[in-house]
Amino acid sequence: MAELSLRKLSQMDIDLLEANFQSLHGAGASQWFGFWDTNKLRRRIAEDQLIGSADGALAISLGEQMIGKADWFTSTAWGRANTSACWEIAIGLFPEYRGKSLGTQAQRQLVDYLFTHYPRHRIQATTAAENTAEQRCLEKLGFTREGVIRQAQWRDGGWHDQIIYSVLRDEWAG
Ligand SMILES: CC(C)(COP(=O)(O)OP(=O)(O)OC[C@H]1O[C@@H](n2cnc3c(N)ncnc32)[C@H](O)[C@@H]1OP(=O)(O)O)[C@@H](O)C(=O)NCCC(=O)NCCS
Repeated sequence: MAELSLRKLSQMDIDLLEANFQSLHGAGASQWFGFWDTNKLRRRIAEDQLIGSADGALAISLGEQMIGKADWFTSTAWGRANTSACWEIAIGLFPEYRGKSLGTQAQRQLVDYLFTHYPRHRIQATTAAENTAEQRCLEKLGFTREGVIRQAQWRDGGWHDQIIYSVLRDEWAG
């Protein structure tokens, strides 16, 4: 099988994101929040190639084929932004590439990338309580399940529990 890697997004990639993620089937049941404005991504690519100081995104590639997107953004939920900020990660694979261990591999590379290039010591991820594939990925990568954020997310006509996970720099190095 071709090698999985992360690379910068280009304007052409946004067409693929548009084609793959703008539907219930494409986004996945626990990630479908209705249509979203991909022009924001086009503007960000023009401005800073989606490599910002507070957030960013990379294409997930299998060989030359883009198969999804990996994101990170700053969470300031735990204290002052200048002392307690951590990264939160998010990922989406195009439907035909799910269930082949690629999500686990991509998130391993993303966590490696973030710990290597930024000094933050905590990376967290939240996922829908029913998203067992994502929870299993995070557990296989050594993330700790920290708890349930109750009915935090509005989606599909109702409120949904989220599960929060994290990994710390020294745990990842170990
Ligand atoms: C969630 C996602 C990133 C997982 O990546 P993936 O490549 O599909 O998952 P993997 O193949 O690495 O599988 C990880 C584990 O979950 C299990 N799994 C996969 N699909 C599953 C499913 N539908 N139900 C239950 N378990 C599942 C696998 O068996 C594997 O566990 P195992 O190694 O113990 O057998 C991917 O499915 C995806 O992009 N989904 C849509 C978007 C999304 O939900 N993103 C996460 C938002 S927080």
